[in-house]
Amino acid sequence: MQSRDRLIVAVDLSTREEILGLVDELQGAVGVFKLGLQAFIANGPSIVRDVVGRGEKVFLDLKLHDIPNTAKHAVAEAAKLGASMLTVHAAGGEAMLRACAESAGDLLVLGVTILTSLDEPALAAIGFSGTPADNAVRLAVLARESGLGGVIASPHEIAAIRAACGDDFAIVTPGIRPEGSDVGDQRRTMTPKEAIAAGASYIVVGRPITGAKDRREAAMSMKT
Ligand code: C5P
Repeated sequence: MQSRDRLIVAVDLSTREEILGLVDELQGAVGVFKLGLQAFIANGPSIVRDVVGRGEKVFLDLKLHDIPNTAKHAVAEAAKLGASMLTVHAAGGEAMLRACAESAGDLLVLGVTILTSLDEPALAAIGFSGTPADNAVRLAVLARESGLGGVIASPHEIAAIRAACGDDFAIVTPGIRPEGSDVGDQRRTMTPKEAIAAGASYIVVGRPITGAKDRREAAMSMKT
C-alpha cells in the first residue's frame, strides 16, 4: 500500500457543499474519506453516493450497536451504498459481530473497542473491569474471532492489538498529529510515521488537514 492509501481524512463537516468541496480539493491526495454521524445525519445516505460517485472510497463511521438482525441489515445497506469501511461497536457482542461479518460482502467492517473518551473509572461505572488498554485488546480479539476485518484503536494500543490479532487484521488509528502541529483535544497522539511503525494499517487525520490553510498541501505532506 502506498503512503497515500493509508491516509483516511475525517470529514467532520455538515453541509454537502463543504463536504464535496473538501473531497474535490483532496482527490488523489488521500486514500479514504471518513464520513461520520455529523455528515450522515445532516445529509442522509446520498452524501455517501455523491462521494463514491466521484470515484473515492468512503469510510462510514456510524458505530452501529444493536441486536444482530438489525445490525446485519444495516451493514448490508451500507455495503449497497458503496461504502468501503464501516464501524460497529465490538461491545455489541459475538452474535452481533458475526451477523455483521456475514452481511458485509466487500465492505471492511471495523470494531470500535473502547472509546478513548472512557477512562478506567468511567469504564468501571458501565461494568467493565480493568484498564482501557486491557479491554481494547480483549474486544479486538473478540472482533477478530467473530469475523470482523479489523478494529479502530488509539495509537498506544496498536502494538498490543497487533501482537494479539496478527498481521492479517486491519488496525485503523485516529489521534494522529504530524510533528509540531496543534494537539487540540486529542490527548495521547502519535505522528503518522510512529503509528505506521507501531503496526497501524491506516491512520485517520482530521483537523490537521481540514483546518489547514492549504488542505491539499497538508494532506500531501502527511508522510507515513
Ligand atoms: O480532527 P482529528 O484528527 O482529531 O479527528 C479524528 C477523527 O477520529 C474524528 O472524526 C474523531 O471522531 C475520530 N476518533 C477519534 N478518537 C477515537 C475514535 C474516533 O479521534 N477514539
